Amino acid sequence: MSDGRAIVLGIETSCDETAAAVVAGDRTVLAERLLSQLDDHAPYGGIVPEIAARAHLAHLDKLVAETMAAAKLGFGDLSAVAATGGPGLIGGVMVGVMTAKAIAAVHKLPFLAVNHLEGHALSPRLTHDVAFPYLLLLVSGGHCQLLAAEGVGRYVRLGGTVDDAAGEAFDKVAKMLGLGYPGGPAVERAAKQGRPGRFRLPRPMKGREGADFSFAGLKTAVRQAIAQLPGGRASTADTADLCRDFQDAVSEIVADRTRHALQRFRKEWPAGRALVVAGGVAANAALRAVLAGAASEAGLDFVAPPLRYCTDNAAMIAWAGIERLALGQRDRLDFAPRPRWPLSELAA
Ligand code: KG4
Ligand code: ZN
Repeated sequence: MSDGRAIVLGIETSCDETAAAVVAGDRTVLAERLLSQLDDHAPYGGIVPEIAARAHLAHLDKLVAETMAAAKLGFGDLSAVAATGGPGLIGGVMVGVMTAKAIAAVHKLPFLAVNHLEGHALSPRLTHDVAFPYLLLLVSGGHCQLLAAEGVGRYVRLGGTVDDAAGEAFDKVAKMLGLGYPGGPAVERAAKQGRPGRFRLPRPMKGREGADFSFAGLKTAVRQAIAQLPGGRASTADTADLCRDFQDAVSEIVADRTRHALQRFRKEWPAGRALVVAGGVAANAALRAVLAGAASEAGLDFVAPPLRYCTDNAAMIAWAGIERLALGQRDRLDFAPRPRWPLSELAA
């Protein structure tokens, strides 16, 4: 467990959110600030790495100062500074890591380079009492995997996507339908007005052995369905129906893959009590509902962080820092930001 008195500043800059948070070991979020770059990237229909890096650089110092002021703390009151050290867009990660190292060096504080995926993976422990081991479904824009979380830094991969991540599929489908970026929330909103079952989209990998995912075929099926509509264009009603079918297909696939992983998890980690979901796609209500069902069938608790801690945020990075600090971990000031950093490499 964490040291209740620890206070950690967390910094997140790996994608298109500039975020800072101060979190205490008793799980109080003392202050948090998040600046979305959505408007900067919207004209391009996706994130432009160079624009992201420049925006982080332009805003981070002020954001950190505001967060510290809101927490009514000086840097000297901190126990450590944590920043996302990867994986992510390298320009942004460098900005966050550099800033955290500078604060740590000047104020002689421990520095922690947090793996962004571990930040998501531990986020449910910030808001809920979840003990290790738990089965973790990590679903975001860049990641889609099922892991057994045995402890801080100890994750066993049970399955993952062989092509697109679930969030990426949401984003691409939204782009095809002209719904803008990020796609997930837009698709979910449109699906609310849609009727189920009209397009009979496929469910790739459903029923297959193991716990791997595939979304490329589903995405292609959506593209073909649009092409077959009158004029090759989706009306508002078509869009709603397609979004509904697509979301239903994703939910069914993810539920099926999770059920397979749950079977293995219960056998190999019998002490496990919870299915935990994390990552931006975990904000999707339909998906949460089917996952809650799968967990209850397996006799496990279902745990999902509140919406604002599902998508990228700095509180989860500060929290991962608190968990690692409590285990006596810290990173060196010559830590090199990592564009790729699988969770399986943490133990080393
Ligand atoms: O974790 P996250 O904020 O960033 C990383 O990828 O690390 O996840 C963002 C992803 C995007 O692909 C976005 O479309 C998806 O999460 N997302 C959703 C929803 N909200 C965000 N997908 C489906 N339904 C949502 N409500
Ligand atoms: Zn993320």
